[in-house]
Amino acid sequence: MTRIIAVVGRKGGAGKTTTAFNLGGAMAAAEQRVLLVDMDPQASLTGILLGQRSGLGIGSALTDPRATLDPLIIATDAGLFPKMYLVPGDRAIERAAQDLSDTATGFFRLRKLLAPLTGFDLVVIDTPPAMGFAISSALLAADRAVLPTLTGQHDLDALADTIRLIDDQRDLGGAALAAIVPCAVRPRELHDRGAMEALTEAYGDLVTEPVPYSPRVRESLAARQPLAQYDPRSPGAQAYAALAQRLGGMATHG
Ligand SMILES: Nc1ncnc2c1ncn2[C@@H]1O[C@H](COP(=O)(O)OP(=O)(O)OP(=O)(O)O)[C@@H](O)[C@H]1O
Ligand SMILES: [Mg+2]
Repeated sequence: MTRIIAVVGRKGGAGKTTTAFNLGGAMAAAEQRVLLVDMDPQASLTGILLGQRSGLGIGSALTDPRATLDPLIIATDAGLFPKMYLVPGDRAIERAAQDLSDTATGFFRLRKLLAPLTGFDLVVIDTPPAMGFAISSALLAADRAVLPTLTGQHDLDALADTIRLIDDQRDLGGAALAAIVPCAVRPRELHDRGAMEALTEAYGDLVTEPVPYSPRVRESLAARQPLAQYDPRSPGAQAYAALAQRLGGMATHG
C-alpha cells in the first residue's frame, strides 16, 4: 500500500519544502520508492530537484478530468536520487484553484489522481503557505499530515490555524496530523529552548525531534541532494531519518 503524506502549514518559510525533500530523501535512503508531488505554484521543490524549467506540471492534470499523473512523473535519477520521482508543480495550480474551488469535487481531484498510482511506497506532497485549494487538496489526498514550524512566536501562533484546518479536512476523510516538526532550531539559544518546551507542553508526542539550524541544510538544497545523501551523519539528516522512521517504521541509517 502506498502511504501518502502531506507537508502543510499556513506560515511561509517554515521548512515545508525542506522537510518534504529530506523526508523523501530519508525514505529513499531506506530503500523506499518515493514520489514527491509539488502542489505549490511557486514550484520550489521542483526547482530544487530539476532547476528552472518550463515543462508541464500538475496544474493541467488537476483541471482535466481525463488526465492521469503517469505522463507527468519524472525520474530524478541523474546519479543523485536513485529512488525519488517527482510530479512538478507549476503556475497552472493557481488556475486550477480558481476553476475548482467552487465545485463539490474539485478538492478531491488530487486524491483521484493519486489513487491509481502503483509502485510507490510513499508519496510526499509539498504545499504552498496559504490556506486554500492546494493545502486542502493535499490533506484530502493524504493519510498523514506533517506540520513543520519555526520557533518564532508568530510561527507557534499560526500552528493552531493549520491544526484546525487539518481537523476540518479530517472530518471529510482527510489526513490525520502525525507530526509537528520544529525546523531550524538553535538548541543553545534560550528562546528556542523555551519554544521547544512550549511546543511539547501544547502538543506532546506530536512534536518530533527538532531539526537543528545548519548551513548544511541550504548547502544540500543548492547541491540538489537530500541530507541523507549530502551529509548522512549530520544532525539534520538524523532528525529527518527519525521522522521517516516515525512515519514509516523503517530502519534509520547513518
Ligand atoms: N534546519 C535548517 N537549517 C537552516 N536553514 C533551513 C533549515 N530548514 C529550512 N531552512 C531554510 O529556510 C528557508 C525556508 O525553508 P523552506 O523553503 O523549506 O520553507 P517553506 O515552508 O517551504 O517556505 P514557503 O512557505 O515559501 O513554501 C530555506 O532557505 C531553507 O533552506
Ligand atoms: Mg515551500
